[in-house]
Amino acid sequence: MSTAAADSAGDFAVPQVEIGAFRRAVGRFTTGVCVVTTFAGRHDHAMTANAFTSVSLDPLLVLVCVEQDARFHEAVVESGIWGVSILDVTGRGDAEWLASPGRPLIGQLDTVAHHRGDVTGVALLDRSVATLECVTENVFPGGDHSIVLGRVVAVELPTDGPGPLIYHRSGYRSLQ
Ligand SMILES: Cc1cc2nc3c(=O)[nH]c(=O)nc-3n(C[C@H](O)[C@H](O)[C@H](O)COP(=O)(O)O)c2cc1C
Repeated sequence: MSTAAADSAGDFAVPQVEIGAFRRAVGRFTTGVCVVTTFAGRHDHAMTANAFTSVSLDPLLVLVCVEQDARFHEAVVESGIWGVSILDVTGRGDAEWLASPGRPLIGQLDTVAHHRGDVTGVALLDRSVATLECVTENVFPGGDHSIVLGRVVAVELPTDGPGPLIYHRSGYRSLQ
């Protein structure tokens, strides 16, 4: 079984952490579920993500961690603009589809209800409790992921829709 590499921090030897235990531990950190979107090479790109967080209020910054092997990685680095759709509970099918490996790249949003952001024109999913449009400020290395930091240039807050989609212990949930 693979393990995280041993390392040292100052004078202290850091014991190896088993990767399965790491995944289970961070899986207990309950999150919402996003779909990040961009437009590059004349195509929409979209990927389910939960490594998303707000960073700063002045300026308005958020980040998403994107696996370097994901097709979305090259697309978002190339385009420099992206959307974040924070899914509602009816968006579970969209989340599952946009996380499935090997789905066709072209036309992957054909079956996903979406509209265009007013500022960047990126796709934003209709089954969302909120959406953001972002312009990349910086891309930082983060192991096998990149940390994509973006300035928020637009926000949508639909009212009276269903509650958020939740992700906990590798499973989709609702707040009820
Ligand atoms: C609930 C959930 C959350 C995910 N979060 C992330 C994430 O934050 N970053 C990431 O790179 N991949 C994440 N993934 C995996 C990607 O959605 C998946 O690898 C996707 O197929 C990548 O698509 P692409 O290769 O077309 O870019 C997540 C998957 C699921 C099911």
